[in-house]
Order: sequence, then structure tokens, then C-alpha cells
Amino acid sequence: MGTTSMLQKPIIRTPALETPPAEFRAALSQLTSGVSLVTAHDPDGEDLGMTATSLVSISLSPPLVLISLRNGSRMQELLARIGTWAVSLLGEEHRALAACFATSGRLSDRALFADMQFRRGHWSRAPLVDHALSIIECRTENQMVAGDHTIVIGQVLEARVSEGTAPPPLLYLRGEYRTLP
Ligand SMILES: Cc1cc2nc3c(=O)[nH]c(=O)nc-3n(C[C@H](O)[C@H](O)[C@H](O)COP(=O)(O)O)c2cc1C
Repeated sequence: MGTTSMLQKPIIRTPALETPPAEFRAALSQLTSGVSLVTAHDPDGEDLGMTATSLVSISLSPPLVLISLRNGSRMQELLARIGTWAVSLLGEEHRALAACFATSGRLSDRALFADMQFRRGHWSRAPLVDHALSIIECRTENQMVAGDHTIVIGQVLEARVSEGTAPPPLLYLRGEYRTLP
């Protein structure tokens, strides 16, 4: 059987610039992503957290990762001011936490952190989620505005895998949180 018979009607039209945002979103919603919580500690303010699927591993030597932050989001504005941050890769048990830290229009994350179990990162002082699959602490190496988002490249200062049995990961696909069968 040819592979083309398995493909649906194309939803991307050419030229690419004419692709309506809804179709672009629909196409990309087919990408299964791991879910992370990006956190940062503002020495002049509060801790901040943001649910993100944009974490990408870029380089091993030196170790670099990137996250993509919507311009004007509180996290993007904070990381324009401070140099260190952290990422906790979330597990199944963190589904509710991920939903809370994705709510738009929050004025403060104080109450969310009060309900959450975490310890502070050595380098960033950012909250690191207890029982996360793994934890990464970063120092911003570079930032680049890309459309309506800013790509933040982080030099990895410390990376640690959860001790004991690896917890099952939290995934995001087609607009919903998922778990492995
Ligand atoms: C599963 C999921 C993944 C998300 N990934 C990102 C991301 O990678 N970058 C981003 O800027 N926003 C992402 N968001 C949206 C932010 O979590 C959300 O806009 C933010 O927490 C709202 O805070 P704000 O009001 O400060 O923008 C994601 C939302 C969900 C539900």
C-alpha cells in the first residue's frame, strides 16, 4: 500500500503566507509534545511559572536548550530582565498543575506555588517541581524575537533526572493532555 493513501486531504495551501492561523494550529496540533513547567525567581518580585511545550534540546556541547515565549507574556517579560530560569519536565501526576499554570490572565502565581511542592534551584532559585521527570536550570545565552514569540536559548547549568523509578510523562496532543497507554 502506498503511503499517499494514508494521508488526509492537505490542509496547508500554498503560498504558505496564505495559510490561515486556524489551519496552521490544526496542523501543528498533531505534534505530540512533552509538557514542561518553566519557572523563574524574580529577586525584586515573585516566583513565576508557565506551562510550555516549546522546550527543545539544541546542542550537547555546550549543552543548550530553547524555549519559545509569547511576546508580552509575563514569563517573556521577566526573562528579558533576569538571566536564569528553570524547566521541570512534568509527569502524569502534574496534569492539574500544568492546567493551572496555563491559565491566561493570572495576575500572580503566589497561590499556585503555595499549593505546589517544590524546592529551589541552586543556580536560578526558581521553583523546581517535586517528582518531575527531570529538572534543567539554565542561564540565558541568547534571545531572538521570532514573529509573535521570543526564542530564549539557555546554557544548561545543571540537569538532573528524577531519582528512583521514572514517572510516566505528561503529553499534549490535539489540544488535550494525554498519557502513554
Ligand atoms: C499545553 C500548553 C503548552 C503551552 N506552551 C507554551 C509555550 O511553549 N510558550 C508560550 O509562550 N506559551 C505556552 N502556553 C501558554 C501559556 O502557558 C499561557 O499563555 C501562560 O501561562 C499565561 O500566562 P500569561 O498571562 O502571563 O501569558 C502553553 C499552554 C498550554 C496549555
